[in-house]
Amino acid sequence: MMTLEAATLASRKADFPGLAGNWAYLDTAATAQKPQVVIDAIARCYGADYATVHRGVYERSATMTLRFEEARAKVAGFIGAADPNEVVFVRGATEAINLVAQSWGQRLKSGDRILISALEHHSNIVPWQLLRDRLGLHLDVAPLTDDGRIDEDALIAMIRPETRLVAIAHVSNVLGGVADVRRIADAAHAAGALLMVDGCQAAPRLALDVAALGCDFYTFSGHKLYGPTGIGVLWARAEILESMPPWQGGGAMIETVSFERSTWAPPPGRFEAGTPHIVGVIGLAAAIDYVEIIGLDAIHAHESALVAAARQALAPINSLRLFGPASSAGIISFAIEGVHPHDIGTILDEAGVAIRAGHHCAQPLMGLLGVPATARASFGIYNDLGDVDRLVAGLHKVTRIFGVGQ
Ligand SMILES: Cc1ncc(COP(=O)(O)O)c(C=O)c1O
Repeated sequence: MMTLEAATLASRKADFPGLAGNWAYLDTAATAQKPQVVIDAIARCYGADYATVHRGVYERSATMTLRFEEARAKVAGFIGAADPNEVVFVRGATEAINLVAQSWGQRLKSGDRILISALEHHSNIVPWQLLRDRLGLHLDVAPLTDDGRIDEDALIAMIRPETRLVAIAHVSNVLGGVADVRRIADAAHAAGALLMVDGCQAAPRLALDVAALGCDFYTFSGHKLYGPTGIGVLWARAEILESMPPWQGGGAMIETVSFERSTWAPPPGRFEAGTPHIVGVIGLAAAIDYVEIIGLDAIHAHESALVAAARQALAPINSLRLFGPASSAGIISFAIEGVHPHDIGTILDEAGVAIRAGHHCAQPLMGLLGVPATARASFGIYNDLGDVDRLVAGLHKVTRIFGVGQ
């Protein structure tokens, strides 16, 4: 087993202006702080380099187009995609999943089934409910194991001949468990279904290779990967994208337009109507450069070590209940008996520790855990054992204030 010292990255806090001041930021699963290199890339893109893409014939625009498409190739390399044209830029994971539902989903018929898991974020539940209600589909929900992972045996047993899509989170945003995507992909394909993976919490934490994962769609958001808000990625295999109709109409997504009819550009342009988020794409490329220099395996080892240290320190607190599997990717959820998670969050905030308290956009999961909300600490590149110590000290203070078991 790796020791904490071996797993822990050199401190990165100085790279992040948002971390200045005396606080411990433990809410990276909601959104990551931005390194100065990303902020600088955004400022340059809006400043000296600024121009539109895919339209201008002047040199500045041609240069920006080149950088925009280089960024697409960088994203493709980051996730192991075979071809940059398999990368569609969207606003975030939420938009990516809605794109799949509204475009790919058009081929589904009444009686078809979609299978998700009980730990999904609302953005991997609601788009399928909307589609279900429109087309008369069935939405099946696979259960969880006792330690809060997707019960893969049960999920695989629930794949039926009518199942057209399995849609699951790679890493749970509440409990941190990591799904065995390859195994689920193989089972889905054996039954003639496709697999869509919500990689929102995995992209910042695990080295990705969509070819090895074997999935058909992969989605994530730039802002959780140390990049800008408003930019995200939908990856799909080329032949699937080519078979999908547009979902939004406008400039850039067409080949020809007449008043009688229009024809569509090939992917990815077909799915990128309008002027894209140029600055977001350039900022995302800078964020990928930043994490790749550190290495995703090193980031995962670092965050796993922080999770292990936190769980070890929190386990002896009598009134504290830890949710989720022992080995999780950078995320832990917990509750303290008799204390509302919002009160935990407020007391920790007074101690300079920022966590998330609430349902984490996973209300059905809260119901299964038997709580209205949890407190969640999530780690990033910049956290260290000092942040874990502050969390633990803050939680001891909570138990003292509320007079619950220490
Ligand atoms: C697992 C998961 N899926 C989807 C989302 C939605 O991401 P966004 O709000 O960036 O679209 C989140 C964000 O919290 C998430 O954690």
